[in-house]
Amino acid sequence: MPFDNKPFRLRRTFLQEEILKLKSQRRAIILSHNYQRDEVQEIADFVGDSLELSRTAATIDCDVILFAGVTFMAESASILSPDKMVLLTEIDAICPMADMIKDFTLRDMKNRYSGIPVVAYVNTTADVKAESDICCTSANVVKVVESLPDERVICIPDKNLALWAARNTKKEVIAWDGFCHVHDRVRPEDVKKARAEHPKALFMAHPECRLEVLEMADHVTSTSGMLRFAKASSEKEFIVGTEIGLMYRLRKENPDKVFYPLREDMVCPEMKKTTLRSLLRALKENNYLIKIPEEIRVPAKRALDRMLMLR
Ligand code: 13P
Ligand code: SF4
Repeated sequence: MPFDNKPFRLRRTFLQEEILKLKSQRRAIILSHNYQRDEVQEIADFVGDSLELSRTAATIDCDVILFAGVTFMAESASILSPDKMVLLTEIDAICPMADMIKDFTLRDMKNRYSGIPVVAYVNTTADVKAESDICCTSANVVKVVESLPDERVICIPDKNLALWAARNTKKEVIAWDGFCHVHDRVRPEDVKKARAEHPKALFMAHPECRLEVLEMADHVTSTSGMLRFAKASSEKEFIVGTEIGLMYRLRKENPDKVFYPLREDMVCPEMKKTTLRSLLRALKENNYLIKIPEEIRVPAKRALDRMLMLR
């Protein structure tokens, strides 16, 4: 059965109007990740993947950046734009994978593998970025690893992303044991089942999935990479191997195409913590302010800038 394409709301709700009014009074910009709730994405100034959000946060003209996402995203915005007020809608919206590695455990690893550069996925805390040589996202991990002159690199914290980088470069990639519980739960049987149910559909997978799943995909890419791939494709049906929040834009931007979630339970509870109410409260009360101490911000910015300089 085709995925139930629910209609898009044409009129804004009262709460959405309130947020937009306050937002323009405060010269605020709302940045939203592609996994946010539909109604949050609807009123954001910019919705994107982690790489696009970092680039936008570094260049945007405003007084306040209001982040609808998880902690590491607002931290990156604050690292890149220290003169702006950066607010995160829900302070306990964390990425569990980012918390799987700490700065002191990374220092131990660096001592063990002395001289080998560290590539930190943006899904890390500011302290960990400060200990790293360069950042990467799901959109550019291969390019980042290739950009380094070294034959061996350390790739943290996602073991699946590290394996994907190793599979696509000639480098030796030393991985940490972290993972995203939303993507890591996918098994090859899920792909076989979805393909049997939708034999004409192309399968797109996020590189946070296991390698055995990625090897079954027609295309492996970031969330916004999936949007570009689906838009450019002449095919009409797609199985979506990432968090279901992406379905909103996929369906909205491609009304003539059909999208099936790989698994209905690919839901990140942390990304869903932000609601319209929390956006409004954040703007009214300046909660929650994200500010990174300079001794962490400066080295963390170096790692982010090095990634952003790659084209
Ligand atoms: P991207 O949108 O950069 O692909 O990231 C996925 C993710 O899990 C962010 O938390
Ligand atoms: Fe972290 Fe995975 Fe949620 Fe992204 S989807 S915020 S990687 S737990």
